Amino acid sequence: MSKSLVIGSLAVNPPLILAPMAGLTDLALRTLAREQGAPLCFTEMISAQGLIRGGKNTLPLLRSNSFDRPLGVQIFGDDPSALAEAARIVEDSCDLIDINMGCPVRKVVAGGAGSALLRDPRKAGKIVETVRKSISVPLTIKIRTGWTACESTYKEIACIAESEGCDAVTLHPRSRAQMFADHSDWSRITELKNILKIPVIGSGDIFAWSDVRDMFHETGCDGVMIARGVLGNPWIFAQYGTAIAGDSPLPPSSEEKCRIALRHLILLGDLYGEECAVKEMRKHLAWYVKGMAGAAKFRAKINEIVSYAILIEQINEFFSGVSLENA
Ligand SMILES: Cc1cc2nc3c(=O)[nH]c(=O)nc-3n(C[C@H](O)[C@H](O)[C@H](O)COP(=O)(O)O)c2cc1C
Repeated sequence: MSKSLVIGSLAVNPPLILAPMAGLTDLALRTLAREQGAPLCFTEMISAQGLIRGGKNTLPLLRSNSFDRPLGVQIFGDDPSALAEAARIVEDSCDLIDINMGCPVRKVVAGGAGSALLRDPRKAGKIVETVRKSISVPLTIKIRTGWTACESTYKEIACIAESEGCDAVTLHPRSRAQMFADHSDWSRITELKNILKIPVIGSGDIFAWSDVRDMFHETGCDGVMIARGVLGNPWIFAQYGTAIAGDSPLPPSSEEKCRIALRHLILLGDLYGEECAVKEMRKHLAWYVKGMAGAAKFRAKINEIVSYAILIEQINEFFSGVSLENA
């Protein structure tokens, strides 16, 4: 059903990746994804300048442990030497470094980083060349199709990156102008696959294990990256594993949802402390209960909760009583 994904010296099997997501793909979410079989996970994008300065908001984004491997660290910036220095700083803590050339957020593009680089193929090439020379772990880039629909530079940039020693390219086939509107155009992934020798990883609109299957089938890509589809649904990795083993994946029971939601809260507590975990968990719980009866009322209730112990009680009550010991 799917081929193997080899990114430089790194083999990823099955060829699935937890995408970088700002504010979301912390050690807690990565741990849950790995427990469900995610073979490669990314940190969120991390500022190259922040790494160089050793910023107090930046370094915690690198928190990891020995279970959290192989790990991809994504960095962003616009200056080739700064990105190379940042890559050297993180190299020993990860197995792969990715350069963000797709982030559409105004603050990021205003600094010439993220998808602003899609307008400057020469600079994008210089970045890959400079970073490649400074590290020995595999190097990838993550791009969108271009700044606008009319300025479609993804093929040019991917080819330059390949010629500068990039080991794989991830394409989220929307333009910067699209942000998250419309559907991602998977035919662009096929087009890129047809012109590159290095692996092409597809990203965009993967919400269920069957979307993973369809993206492999429709585009011939080498790997699939899962982003929003993992939110409240880390089972997506295990479900795809079940499907490729020839069985029918089942949706999680409400006991299983409860177990994982409690585990998520505990992992956040370990990472940030209980008070902060309660706040962080609100958004994740909204995803875990999405589509379930009483979800709106539950969301309203948990948004008022500040106590860790009371949140545990409420989670148990909502999913109808799974004890913490089982989490
Ligand atoms: C909340 C959020 C944060 C994101 N942060 C990043 C990021 O830090 N770096 C990056 O390359 N892409 C980021 N993305 C884009 C995703 O990695 C992915 O390419 C995009 O969501 C398309 O995949 P999907 O439709 O399966 O969600 C983010 C997406 C979301 C929704």
